[in-house]
Amino acid sequence: MPFLKKIYRWLNVRIGADEILEQELTGYRLPANINGWYSLGSVLLFALALQVVSGILLLVYYVPDADKAFASVTAIMNQVPFGWLIRMCHAVGSNLMVLVLILHMLSVLFMGSYKRPRELSWLSGFMLLNLVMAISLTGYLLPWSQLSFWATTVATNSFGAIPVVGGFLVEFLRGGKLVGPQTLGRFFALHVALIPLGIGALVGLHLFLLKRVGVSAPPFGLSDTGNQWQGDRYRYEDHPDGIPFFPNFVVKDLISICLYLAFLLLVVFFNPFIFFPKDAFIPANPFQTPAHIKPEWYFLANYQTLKIFPSELLGLTAQGVAMTFLALLPFIDRGRERHPLKRPLFLACSIGGIAVWIGLTIWGHYS
Ligand code: HEM
Repeated sequence: MPFLKKIYRWLNVRIGADEILEQELTGYRLPANINGWYSLGSVLLFALALQVVSGILLLVYYVPDADKAFASVTAIMNQVPFGWLIRMCHAVGSNLMVLVLILHMLSVLFMGSYKRPRELSWLSGFMLLNLVMAISLTGYLLPWSQLSFWATTVATNSFGAIPVVGGFLVEFLRGGKLVGPQTLGRFFALHVALIPLGIGALVGLHLFLLKRVGVSAPPFGLSDTGNQWQGDRYRYEDHPDGIPFFPNFVVKDLISICLYLAFLLLVVFFNPFIFFPKDAFIPANPFQTPAHIKPEWYFLANYQTLKIFPSELLGLTAQGVAMTFLALLPFIDRGRERHPLKRPLFLACSIGGIAVWIGLTIWGHYS
């Protein structure tokens, strides 16, 4: 269209659009043997954007007041046009995003992409994982249902086992001795303002590092890059013989994003309440404890760990050790080899770790 071309030319003179597009899209080369796992990062960016948009739309009708929150969510589901769709996309989307996050982490783990010089990409990703968990936990309270109220009571209670500061921490999080209207205010502020700001900043850092260090070549097939290390110095890993980001890899990214969206809508249309136990449909009642209160599936392993240790402090310590080990992995596993089958110790430990996590999750679900 001549009009659009005119606007583009106008912009080009002023900001050098041609040069930016060449540098960032067609001239930005990725490893020739890149595979579909590398598109999970883009799926995560898309999933995050969907959470932000659906979250802002929910804010139009949601009321963060203990007396009105449950009724406002019920109205979104039953009266607001397409409110159910927005809410279900937000609730189901949060679960699927955690699932994709775990897959992204596993792909980085098995292809050894966390190894030097990408330690900071791993660390920023690890912090993102924690913030995504925190945003889910705080969001859980907002509908002010029985599930929200009691799951938050159980989750905040466990912080009390931390020596010295535990009691203070629980009160600080709850804004009082017990979960109540003041907790809703705090969790609302964390969920819609503070944690999203942190996630935004960390995603920025994550992408900055990706551009700065370059995408790793997968350890399979024919790589286009030789050894990037020159003594103790590392040069930016570009891929002169690789494929252009646009259009070649963007098409792969778009296919993965469409698959994600298709799966999300499939759940939303055909099994929307899969992540909603029956206590999610009853308004919060501080005087009536439900018989079985369980956290979301990705917290079940943590929940079960706290139950099987003789004391909560031991359970928390075990989780702290496991998380610290995961955070520091690039500094512990320092070998240069990245092919998973050529790292038998790594393979045994990670498969063992994943099996324990899945085992605890299933146990937590049926216990
Ligand atoms: C909201 C969460 C996240 C977003 C939006 C995100 C986004 C991305 C994107 C777009 C890429 C580049 C393409 C790719 O390799 O997939 C990437 C790479 C990477 N991510 Fe993430 N990520 C997130 C969480 C994580 C987590 C939890 C970890 C691990 C603890 C992690 C570790 C890495 C590493 C090490 C790379 C470099 C991979 C390479 O160069 O081969 N990320 N991420």
